[in-house]
Amino acid sequence: MTMPTELPTNQWFVIASVDELGDGPLARTVCGENIVLFRDAEGTLAALVDRCPHRNYPLSLGQVVDGQLQCGYHGLTFSSSGTCVWAPNQSRIPSSASVASYPLCQTGPWIWVWIGDPTHPGVAAPPVLPWLSEPGWAVLHGMEPIAARYGLLVDNLLDLSHETFLHAGYIGTREVAATPIETEVDDATGTVRVSRRMAAVECPKFYSETTGMTSPIDRWQDIEYRPICQYVLHSRIAPAGVAPALDGSDPDAAHLKILYAITPSTAGTTLDFWALCRNFSVDDEGVDEAMADMQRTVVLQDVEALAHVERVLGQSDVVTEVSLKIDSGALAARRVIGRQLEAEPSTAK
Ligand code: FES
Ligand SMILES: [Fe+2]
Repeated sequence: MTMPTELPTNQWFVIASVDELGDGPLARTVCGENIVLFRDAEGTLAALVDRCPHRNYPLSLGQVVDGQLQCGYHGLTFSSSGTCVWAPNQSRIPSSASVASYPLCQTGPWIWVWIGDPTHPGVAAPPVLPWLSEPGWAVLHGMEPIAARYGLLVDNLLDLSHETFLHAGYIGTREVAATPIETEVDDATGTVRVSRRMAAVECPKFYSETTGMTSPIDRWQDIEYRPICQYVLHSRIAPAGVAPALDGSDPDAAHLKILYAITPSTAGTTLDFWALCRNFSVDDEGVDEAMADMQRTVVLQDVEALAHVERVLGQSDVVTEVSLKIDSGALAARRVIGRQLEAEPSTAK
């Protein structure tokens, strides 16, 4: 199964974090669509096509005036729905002067955009990621742009054996790559699950410095991936031999939900949104700082590696690759994305 390069768009993609949006407009490209985000007078988020219908100036270079977006070229002004509400020296504004808007939703710090068919039933079903907003979880988040096609980040996140080599000294230990994975696909929901359960293994620095646990630990990595954008790594760390109780409680373990939102930007670039949700030391700023520092380092290691792979791929028209057992999750993800594409041929790019 080759890596898909087309994009199924009838789904939600993270476009920005709420803290990225100040008083002015914010430009983002998602799946090749240039979009401008801003807040209206009530503080409600709005997303419009980032192109003025008058003479095609990017609206994101304008400004927000009284909750409306004013073009920076000749001043045409648009409401949050994209209707042109003001034009210089003109009382009757042609309806063709409006711009298209996109549905948005928010979960915790993440703003999601829908760029596909606005009548699709999925618009009414925003992503469910409770750890981003439920009490009892501390949330850290950030975003790094990657100079690589989105499929390379899918490959990367579905095969964590690379932690042993690319992230040695942070989250990688010898046992990650040495432990086999189990992969399954839930066809009803299009979810890929990849599980790696390690028993009595080394505690990597990422967890020893943030949980205080020492080797040996039991370390579970259970990936739940809903292509394209929604990736959750359920990470459980516990003293070796300590299992969850029969009632599901797990007081001696540390749980970390490692979320990634994989947002294709252009054909060769990707927005790598990440969030770490932990249920331990939730009010400890020292843990915040140590965890955010190490996460940034790990993410930048991936960013650099994937840019190298993209550069190598760009040197040839034909992509060749060899798949191994460790790639079963990534290959399953490609199949799910392939089925999404078949379901919406009219919007495939
Ligand atoms: S290009 Fe926007 S107002 Fe003229
Ligand atoms: Fe990585």
